[in-house]
Amino acid sequence: MARKPTGKISEAIIENLNDAAIGIDKEGKIILFNPQAEALFEKKEEEVQGQKIWDILEISDFTRTFISLVKNSDPTRLEQVLPFPGNRIFLAKMHPVRNSDDRVVGAVAILEDLTTIHKMEKTMNEFVAVVSHELKTPLTSIKGFVETLLEGALSNPEVTRKFLQVINSETNRMTRLVISLLDLTRIMRENGHQKTSEPINLPEVIKDAANLFGHIAEEKGMHLIITVPDDLPGILADRDKIRQVMINLIDNAIKYSSIGKKDHEVEVKAWADESYVHIHVRDTGIGIPDDEIDKIFNKFYRVQKGLATELGGTGLGLSITREILKGYGGTIEVESVQNEYSIFKLKLPHILKL
Ligand SMILES: Nc1ncnc2c1ncn2[C@@H]1O[C@H](COP(=O)(O)OP(=O)(O)OP(=O)(O)O)[C@@H](O)[C@H]1O
Ligand SMILES: [Mg+2]
Repeated sequence: MARKPTGKISEAIIENLNDAAIGIDKEGKIILFNPQAEALFEKKEEEVQGQKIWDILEISDFTRTFISLVKNSDPTRLEQVLPFPGNRIFLAKMHPVRNSDDRVVGAVAILEDLTTIHKMEKTMNEFVAVVSHELKTPLTSIKGFVETLLEGALSNPEVTRKFLQVINSETNRMTRLVISLLDLTRIMRENGHQKTSEPINLPEVIKDAANLFGHIAEEKGMHLIITVPDDLPGILADRDKIRQVMINLIDNAIKYSSIGKKDHEVEVKAWADESYVHIHVRDTGIGIPDDEIDKIFNKFYRVQKGLATELGGTGLGLSITREILKGYGGTIEVESVQNEYSIFKLKLPHILKL
């Protein structure tokens, strides 16, 4: 049978716990305060040893419950989720401590930080709600058209054709949405791990992405200008992902420029300082309203009014872009004036720095 840890062993365990541990005696005097408790309450063990817990820690839900445990004549183990200052949430596991005669001589509390798990849960719930909503809209539309066809519209070939076209485009939209979502979750998962990174030639990747848009820019009478020096320092990243970033940004720049004044310009400019490669994607398009500019990197967010709602899109392009850049130590910011211009500003650490 395993022996109970005693003396030095139990001390070492308490010191190295991930959670904060506090012990009090029957009078409420602090007799145990591990390093995690020091960090949590911002007090040193020497300061608190032998002091009454209510003199040291604010009378919060936690202190109140903890004290009641040693004052209770027949206490049992307690487990409670409690709020702490700074929007933190802890699971407090409180145990009475008994001596060999089974008399309660004090209590020990272990505080497990649930803040991150709680936040993740909240984000996850919000995410599921938004995704369901995004999928429900095209599904409702498809169902409506299919029902109308089944109820008799099928006999009219022209109507049938029109309805099938809508169904087709809604199905395409759902497919794009699901593909983008899978991309996003994969990239977010990979960001937590070691990724494949190779030195990549940025000018080549930027030009390769821009070439895809040459035809459409020409059709719209837009000028697509690439100002990228060939001797730009390389970066360590996944070529396909950086290409995806450039495609997303150039696609937006062209897409959100198609009304208003003529002769629109889209410019991709890159240069390096001693640490970073900077890439700016500038357009002379519809711009972004001030009160929405902070939201455009959020998943599914699309500017509420005007052109953006008329054009197809999932609202995931910029979330994917930001997530990819984050994975390689990069950042993205935007500057924009409505009806004038937008500039998406990227920064990625280059190899000379690394
Ligand atoms: N260059 C731009 N000029 C004006 N508005 C922009 C620009 N880029 C993005 N936006 C706004 O930000 C929103 C989010 O962009 P994002 O690329 O994430 O999604 P999307 O373009 O709507 O869809 P997707 O990229 O998935 O096809 C857009 O819907 C648009 O309202
Ligand atoms: Mg986009």
